[in-house]
Amino acid sequence: MASKRKAVERPQTPPAHAFPHKHLLGIEGLSPQEIQILLDLADSYVEQNRAENKKTDLLRGRTLINLFFENSTRTRTSFELAGKRLGGDTINMAVSTSSIKKGETLIDTAMTLNAMHPDILCVRHPHSGAVQLLSEKVNCSVVNGGDGTHEHPTQALLDAQTIRRRYGKIEGLTVAISGDVLHSRVARSNMYLLTTMGAKVRLVAPPTLLPKDVERYGVHVFNNLEDGISGCDIVMMLRLQTERMQGMYVPSIREYFRFYGLTKEKLNAANPDALVMHPGPMNRGVEIDSELADDIDRSLIREQVEMGVAVRMAVFEVLTRNKMNKIQ
Ligand code: CP
Repeated sequence: MASKRKAVERPQTPPAHAFPHKHLLGIEGLSPQEIQILLDLADSYVEQNRAENKKTDLLRGRTLINLFFENSTRTRTSFELAGKRLGGDTINMAVSTSSIKKGETLIDTAMTLNAMHPDILCVRHPHSGAVQLLSEKVNCSVVNGGDGTHEHPTQALLDAQTIRRRYGKIEGLTVAISGDVLHSRVARSNMYLLTTMGAKVRLVAPPTLLPKDVERYGVHVFNNLEDGISGCDIVMMLRLQTERMQGMYVPSIREYFRFYGLTKEKLNAANPDALVMHPGPMNRGVEIDSELADDIDRSLIREQVEMGVAVRMAVFEVLTRNKMNKIQ
């Protein structure tokens, strides 16, 4: 039977040495060319994901395991879909019903899964550095699905792809990242990626929600929302991560929304056609006004979720190809 999928122009398969990494643990250290390879490949998967027949057999015979020690809707589901759409066998390990609950350590869990010969482990963990530690103990590729406040590389890649598809470029754009930067691995990965690709990055937050070493990222810092987004092309809002907070970082949620919550009116301070992003999950009425979040003329939030699957397919493609070519 004829396939109902339109023929998609795939980018020339980049040679394995063009992305010489066994794992994807962070954006820090990736070159602009390596990031571009992933974004170009991801672009080719967008059409595949919109077609009726979404499946190929690139990963046939490969095993992917999702190992999430923190909750997730978008990241875990899109890793699973990405693996399945490429024809791989995808398993979600339910941490809450696993032997971790009987006291098994992260490393013992990793070694146990390693003995089953997976090809890729996608891991989310509440502690910064835990995913890197795990990657040093297993034979397969490891993809970081978010570790503590450190990095969330596939989120930054999907954000970049969303921006690039809308603006046709990343270089030269001005992007404000606003909200709880201190606890945000999304902010950190985006700072690395956007500055590497030539965007101008601003951080907007109260002083209590900014990292101490913020200068090292090559960004400009603002404590006032309207000043920070003035002249911006993109305003990326972040959730208040109360689960990572010990003590008071903001006087109250009401006060926070008043000064740092993005509304249509406050967005007028940005460029007239500025677009709004949010990695999700959103806290409506805390960091973003509900009406603005749902405004399809200003909000890229749904598109970000869509790009998540395509980007993760691209990551799986390059890492499994590297495994075939024994890139360590
Ligand atoms: N953006 C993001 O990481 O969302 P989830 O926590 O739902 O995976």
